[in-house]
Amino acid sequence: MKEDVKVCFYPYEKDVVVKRGENLLRAALEAGVHINASCGGEGHCGKCRVLIKSGEAECRECKKLTPQEIEVGYRQACRTTILSDLEVFIPPESQLDKSALERKKGTQSSGRHISSQILEKLVSGARFNPALWKHFLEIEPPSTQDNTSDLSRLLLLLKRQHNIENVSVDFLVLKKLSQILRQAEWKVTVTLVQTRVESQLGEYQLRGSRRPKLINVEPGNTVDTHYSVVLDIGTTTLWGQLIDLTNGATLAESSEYNPQVSYGDDVITRIVYSQKKGGLKKLQELVVTAINRIINDLLKKSGKDRRFISHLTAAGNTVMTHILLGLNPKYIRESPYTPVANFIPPVRAIRLGVEVEDFVYLYTFPSVASYVGGDIVSGILGSGVYQRKDLTLYIDIGTNGEIVLGNADWLLTASCSAGPAFEGGGVKFGMRATDGAIEGFDIHPTTFEPMILTIGMVKPKGICGSGIISIIAELLEAGVISPNGKFNVELNIPRIRKGSDGFEYVLAWKEETQIEEDITITEADIDNVMRAKAAMFAGCHSLLEKANLKVSDLSQIVIAGAFGDYIDLEKAIIIGLLPELPLEKFLFVGNGSLLGAKLISLSNEMLDDGERIARKMTNVELSEDRSFMEKYIAALFLPHTNAELFSKTIQRMKAFKNASRAGTGGKK
Ligand code: FES
Repeated sequence: MKEDVKVCFYPYEKDVVVKRGENLLRAALEAGVHINASCGGEGHCGKCRVLIKSGEAECRECKKLTPQEIEVGYRQACRTTILSDLEVFIPPESQLDKSALERKKGTQSSGRHISSQILEKLVSGARFNPALWKHFLEIEPPSTQDNTSDLSRLLLLLKRQHNIENVSVDFLVLKKLSQILRQAEWKVTVTLVQTRVESQLGEYQLRGSRRPKLINVEPGNTVDTHYSVVLDIGTTTLWGQLIDLTNGATLAESSEYNPQVSYGDDVITRIVYSQKKGGLKKLQELVVTAINRIINDLLKKSGKDRRFISHLTAAGNTVMTHILLGLNPKYIRESPYTPVANFIPPVRAIRLGVEVEDFVYLYTFPSVASYVGGDIVSGILGSGVYQRKDLTLYIDIGTNGEIVLGNADWLLTASCSAGPAFEGGGVKFGMRATDGAIEGFDIHPTTFEPMILTIGMVKPKGICGSGIISIIAELLEAGVISPNGKFNVELNIPRIRKGSDGFEYVLAWKEETQIEEDITITEADIDNVMRAKAAMFAGCHSLLEKANLKVSDLSQIVIAGAFGDYIDLEKAIIIGLLPELPLEKFLFVGNGSLLGAKLISLSNEMLDDGERIARKMTNVELSEDRSFMEKYIAALFLPHTNAELFSKTIQRMKAFKNASRAGTGGKK
């Protein structure tokens, strides 16, 4: 665990506590300190020069500084690693204006960004105990005195050496068993899985006892090479991780846009397309192609062999799960909205077209209802909400926004279509949270120059979800846009201009980007984000209303979403995406769905818990709720038409504006 260090920024006299090894520009952003930075942290614009007054900070490729400057303590903040407590002076050319200090005073920095890594500690009872495991066996060959069958010899040894009995056997194992035993001179590794006894009729029920099933036998000792792929099948984005089943380590992570987006942005249009001739097959092939690309990437990044992937787990909303499995989603869309099944038995992955060995099964998370899927069940599992006594609101901000309210005793859930804006969709330069995506943004309050930080600290390519939230909040606070989302053209600055989609703000000029064109945020983008945040906000308030509760009754709000490494909670409140509550009440858990999928890969107990959560949730249908529509329309404003709901935020924004004016003698 890295130790905490304190960085104090002068002349602002603002400090922030970060982990040793943190990047200095990121620490400044965390502290709410503006440093000019227009290349995303790649190191080539040279605008982020700072002077280290005391402490240790390592400069990596500060190419824009002379050896003499480095000698006296200058560093490029974006290329500097914090090694100890620091005192950092920001020279005038990097801050431009002292009013940035005033504007930022009073902002809380601690607790704004919460790493998703702490999430695993939220769940109790997650014992490392995967449902799949391997054993190496040295079997006695048959003889004239003992000509017991090959399988009996193997099972007998399993019982004797590992006390495993009552094993069912996959037929594929029998097909290859004799040959492998002899080729491998009776030294083999077996793979077993704890599986339900499949004896029920009708809808597959995953209740009841489990028993071990022998699913693979391979030559030699391969117990140390045993992997699982966990997947989050989102409407807009797919995420995957390669997990080492011997120790629980995450070996690699990868993501892809869901190629089905070409056939519709949301689940409804996908269902419509699936009903066309060959539509379902087409959509299924597309998602499987993306899964195969993710698996290839995971194997490339980790240097592991495909043969040793033993298991796949996927969490997705009900429609995505149906399409992945080739199940007809038609009746999900038609009243009374029924899925084919909520609990689906594991499926042989190769039958879906997933490029893994033939013995590998795909387990999909159970769903609750047509529009409340396995991804939300997975998120509730991963965040431990179902174990807590206190009242929690869980919000998964994605194309299909999902909300859960409850505690260890009860769970209410609802879904609202937010659209893909927070995943980069419907935003002109939107992109996934990968290298080159702008994820952090700050604007100078009087010059309106940007400070941008990209994932991977490279030249910007586009904007990811957390970046979009930051950008809109900053533009609003600085008065660059109005509460109705329109640009204040009277500012008369070169960064605000009329583009092909109406007015826009230039975040990075062509020469500062990787894409050889200016990266902008447009009024149309802002409008899409406003719709998305209004849907999420109205959904939360509607669910609270159904339970006869208020925002102030909440002990904690858990935020999930594949935004990137973090979301700035304060900025999410400023745009009215999240309710105005003390920041300590919020917890950002990153991609909760992926984490839940990982947990069940690593723990049999968690697998049972996931199934219990799905049974416990009660779904609330919002699509036909008039009060939801009213709340939605009222929320189409920044932060909201009802100023009382965001009184502190509005007050603070006014204070910022006054301070900015005071710092420049009244800019506007
Ligand atoms: S050189 Fe540091 S942000 Fe450009």
